Amino acid sequence: MLDVKLFHMKSFLPMPYEAALAPRLKRAHDMLQAGNGLGGEFTGWVHLPRDYDKAEFDRIQAAAAKIRSDSKALVVIGIGGSYLGARGVIDCLCSPNYNLKKKDTPNIYFAGNGLSADALQEILELVEGEDFSVNVISKSGTTTEPAVAFRFFREALEKKYGKEGARGRIYATTDKARGALKSLADAEGWETFVVPDEVGGRFSVLTAVGLLPIAVTGVDISELMAGAAEMMDRCTTDASFDCPAWRYAAIRYELYRSGRSVELLACYDPAFRFMLEWWKQLYGESEGKDDKGLFPASVEFTADLHSMGQYIQQGRRLMFETVVRLGASHARLSVPTDAQDGDGLNFLAGTDMDFIRDKAMEGTLLAHTEGGVPNIIVEADGKTPRALGQLIYFFEYACGLSGYLLDVNPFDQPGVEAYKKNMFALLGKPGYEDRRAELEAKLAQ
Ligand code: PA5
Repeated sequence: MLDVKLFHMKSFLPMPYEAALAPRLKRAHDMLQAGNGLGGEFTGWVHLPRDYDKAEFDRIQAAAAKIRSDSKALVVIGIGGSYLGARGVIDCLCSPNYNLKKKDTPNIYFAGNGLSADALQEILELVEGEDFSVNVISKSGTTTEPAVAFRFFREALEKKYGKEGARGRIYATTDKARGALKSLADAEGWETFVVPDEVGGRFSVLTAVGLLPIAVTGVDISELMAGAAEMMDRCTTDASFDCPAWRYAAIRYELYRSGRSVELLACYDPAFRFMLEWWKQLYGESEGKDDKGLFPASVEFTADLHSMGQYIQQGRRLMFETVVRLGASHARLSVPTDAQDGDGLNFLAGTDMDFIRDKAMEGTLLAHTEGGVPNIIVEADGKTPRALGQLIYFFEYACGLSGYLLDVNPFDQPGVEAYKKNMFALLGKPGYEDRRAELEAKLAQ
């Protein structure tokens, strides 16, 4: 089972804080459980691993099997919470090089997560000669980036297979009743999957949003849900500092109160890169409001020790680190012997790569704490669907607790609208005329 450990934390937080914080954590816990805190209408994710729609889950498995049988590629169109979780899980469990591997499951391409014409064109070209399907994902059904990308891929599908043929290759994941995508899907007869009303985008990886693309790769999504359910049981029943989510939420809150403003999430496995991105959205959008919140940043070790390591060791003391340890690698590799020993590394000959990685981690923990950077360790239960399910739920639950400790609504994201309004005004969307004149004047200054 996942665990949270504090590394030499007493030198950073000498005062005991658990007793003082326990009543506030209990209150946060109760609000999450009852769904009666700020944004409580978006706490459907809390019991999702138990209450998820089993019939829809079977439809997801069936759709994934169909996509595997009739497609060489799946284009997943979505942005933010509508893609980061799926990408994180697929990279972590199937490898960032998944598309390059020999396999009997479709390639997965992620589109609609930006506005780059080059990125879009590249994926259009990559799927051009292939049988492909599209999973367009948008809870609101109105987000510009995925909606624009979908136009291109829908056109490509309809050109290739005709309207009727394309119909069997478009899967829309969206609100159960509202939004432009839902109306379009109903009118066109596309198969639809639901983003439940009470689950916000960044908490939606364990709904059809994440599960359909993940299932297409052959990852066992039942195991993912089982792992999440294990952590849900732990978080639900264990309202104490024995619960890893309590310990993590508490320590990061205390570090924030003591003046830290940046949390670096670190991992020693490059396959975890998009899980780091998923985590950044989860915590950034949930906590960063009302002039509050830790800035969530990420580092990939050991690569970033050779780029960000200098700043972490000796730059402004802004940050603390949370290191995710995934446990043993699947590959067992030991360092080859070199008769000449030209690089002087024969003292490592025969040594397992995991052992070297772990020593690098221990050396880094010691160096960074000595350099004034507190470290938290999240020990995952391995690099398996079940362990990742635990980890996802752990971070979600700790995020909910953290938001309530900060007295913010962890489930809204009003700040995301600001750029959208300006973009629409500058693009000449009807209704934004006054704002457009004002913005163009500002740009001209
Ligand atoms: O967490 C959120 O709610 C957002 O980041 C959304 O996931 C993102 O903006 C995409 O929204 P939608 O799924 O409505 O297209």
